[in-house]
Amino acid sequence: MKTTRIHKTLIAAVLGVALAAGANAYADGDDRDHDHGGENHARYKTVENQLYKQECSACHYLYLPGLLPARSWEALIKGSDKHFGENLALDEGTSSEILGFLKANSAEKTNTEWSNKIMKSVGSSTPTRIMDVPWVIKEHREVKDAFKRPSVGSASNCGACHTRGHEGDFETVKVPK
Ligand code: HEC
Ligand code: HEC
Repeated sequence: MKTTRIHKTLIAAVLGVALAAGANAYADGDDRDHDHGGENHARYKTVENQLYKQECSACHYLYLPGLLPARSWEALIKGSDKHFGENLALDEGTSSEILGFLKANSAEKTNTEWSNKIMKSVGSSTPTRIMDVPWVIKEHREVKDAFKRPSVGSASNCGACHTRGHEGDFETVKVPK
């Protein structure tokens, strides 16, 4: 009799652990599909363009082109005279080189786990902020309070938390106090 009771407790305990593990696996897989193979397909490859760096990193973080669809970059460059309250005053040649670079490396051209999620998430919309992409908003719902910290400044300051974001790695995260 006694052994049966111990048995039942054991089974319950084992089941409990199994269920908890299952729930964990689900919670993890829900938001982030980790690549368990050797290569990490989530990360972006670094792409560089001197003119893009020169014209687009003076005021803020230099965003990787693969974070937005081509039509978003097109809207941003076409509207660069009214860029979030700033007139970027780009001449014809400069804007066409920058736009060419951005379009050649946009989210639809990048084919990484993150750019594919971004493309799926935007649907037919044309976001002009990466932080307007529903999937990106969802990924940040637990840290959105930190966006207002003086050490971060705004959600647009990706590099404050993604210290290796410029290398295409958004998995490395350190949220400053
Ligand atoms: C004169 C300053 C200035 C320059 C130069 C500039 N920007 Fe911006 N940009 C801003 C400001 C201000 C914002 C809004 C940031 C915020 O809300 O915190 C912004 C926001 C953005 C965003 C949205 C970021 C997000 O939250 O997802 C993108 C994308 C962007 N800029 C692209 C560019 C590109 C491409 C260039 C070069 C052609 C450029 N910027 C050059 C001032 C600038
Ligand atoms: C206040 C800090 C902070 C800022 C600013 C921030 N992020 Fe994040 N980001 C995070 C955290 C925390 C996560 C969740 C990481 C996790 O789930 O382990 C995350 C997740 C992500 C992911 C998904 C990574 C993964 O492992 O699946 C991407 C892509 C990303 N951020 C891009 C950006 C971009 C682009 C910007 C700027 C427009 C930005 N983030 C700004 C903190 C930040």
